[in-house]
Amino acid sequence: MNTISYCAFTFLLFLLAHFGESANINVAAKADANVAPALLKAWKEACAATTPSTVVIPKGTYPMTQVLLAGPCKAPIELKIEATLKAPPNPKDMEGKKEWLTIQYIDHFTLSGGGTLDGQGNVHVYGVKDTSFKSNKLPNNLSLNFLTNSVIRDITTLNSKLFHVNVLGGKNLTFDHFTIKAPGDSPNTDGIHIAKIIGVTVKDSVIGTGDDCISMGDGLENLKVTGVTCGPGHGISVGSLGKTPGEQPVKGIFVSDSKFIGTDNGVRIKTWPNSHPGIITDIHFENIDMKDVKNPIVIDQEYCPNNECSKQKPSLVKISKVSYKNIKGTSATETAVFLTCSSGVPCDGVEIGDINLTFKGGAAKTVCKNVKPKLTGKQVPPVVCK
Ligand SMILES: *[C@@H]1O[C@H](CO)[C@@H](O)[C@H](O)[C@H]1NC(C)=O
Ligand SMILES: *[C@@H]1O[C@H](CO)[C@@H](O)[C@H](O)[C@H]1NC(C)=O
Ligand SMILES: *[C@@H]1O[C@H](CO)[C@@H](O)[C@H](O)[C@H]1NC(C)=O
Repeated sequence: MNTISYCAFTFLLFLLAHFGESANINVAAKADANVAPALLKAWKEACAATTPSTVVIPKGTYPMTQVLLAGPCKAPIELKIEATLKAPPNPKDMEGKKEWLTIQYIDHFTLSGGGTLDGQGNVHVYGVKDTSFKSNKLPNNLSLNFLTNSVIRDITTLNSKLFHVNVLGGKNLTFDHFTIKAPGDSPNTDGIHIAKIIGVTVKDSVIGTGDDCISMGDGLENLKVTGVTCGPGHGISVGSLGKTPGEQPVKGIFVSDSKFIGTDNGVRIKTWPNSHPGIITDIHFENIDMKDVKNPIVIDQEYCPNNECSKQKPSLVKISKVSYKNIKGTSATETAVFLTCSSGVPCDGVEIGDINLTFKGGAAKTVCKNVKPKLTGKQVPPVVCK
């Protein structure tokens, strides 16, 4: 095989340019051919570079098998995905326990490029009853583990088989102009699940999926969500917490200037009954628009999907310092405000400022239990907790 035909039939990795101090490494891929080997090769080179480098997957549509991009790298590194990358459509062609694309242990990492990660969950997963597709064996779309000082920008994840994005560990991570798309009825397709990390920002992003748009697990501190549109989906959720022993507190959560459209919940805090102890504190929701949201404001300490738990004993997750300010729009059910706190550890320091939530143009209502909110501003519907 001469060089030319070899190039034509395999991936070719070449250094496009060395300009200034940073290297640009192009992953040249051929249509219909798995891009993973070329990407791994480019990554290895870029990660070893002592000056900042960029790995580019250019425009086009390519299949990609499972990929793990791991640091530490010697200098800042950017992965620019301009392409649409397609996961193997059948979960059987993925090793069950692994994610599709995993990026981990990198400082100063950037993911960008305007491209799409297409999990193809719509092809073989959604709506399929085959038990070998049980959700705990399905891959997430993108796993970001122990990244520090990193940015995810201008990327779309489409039809993940399970969670679209799982963030675990690290410090200082920003999602900016991030898009998540999956049907409203796709099972367990959480948008971004974030846990055990300090300092996360999600801004100016659009999330439509079949489960929580953003869900927060234990050990998350200092999350800012702003300019996010959520829907379809189950809203933005703190928790669920309390199911496993030894969970770290969730604290310092600020959700502002965001919109919920046709979602099951708006802003929700959920913990399991009969739970292990835990802490949720310093949680703030401000300037939120709701449109046809089933339950716009929710604290649910009796969260027990499919009745898989006992409600006999209360949740032991203590919720405190929660505020709601300027939350307005329409509720799709009569109960616009649902605050069910634990009888074991009632909520403390809940503040409700201006809210205006209507149901069918008329009065909505409030349900509350084990909470005495401090009222500031004007509440529609009135919040009366005995
Ligand atoms: C969607 O993205 C996640 C990222 O973690 C990946 O694990 C998952 O495999 C993708 N969806 C698929 C391939 O079903
Ligand atoms: C967080 O990460 C970004 C991106 O690398 C960086 O510009 C910023 O300085 C970091 N912030 C802190 C507080 O370290
Ligand atoms: C609440 O919203 C409705 C519908 O937008 C509006 O007509 C009403 O004046 C608002 N009420 C208050 C107290 O802001």
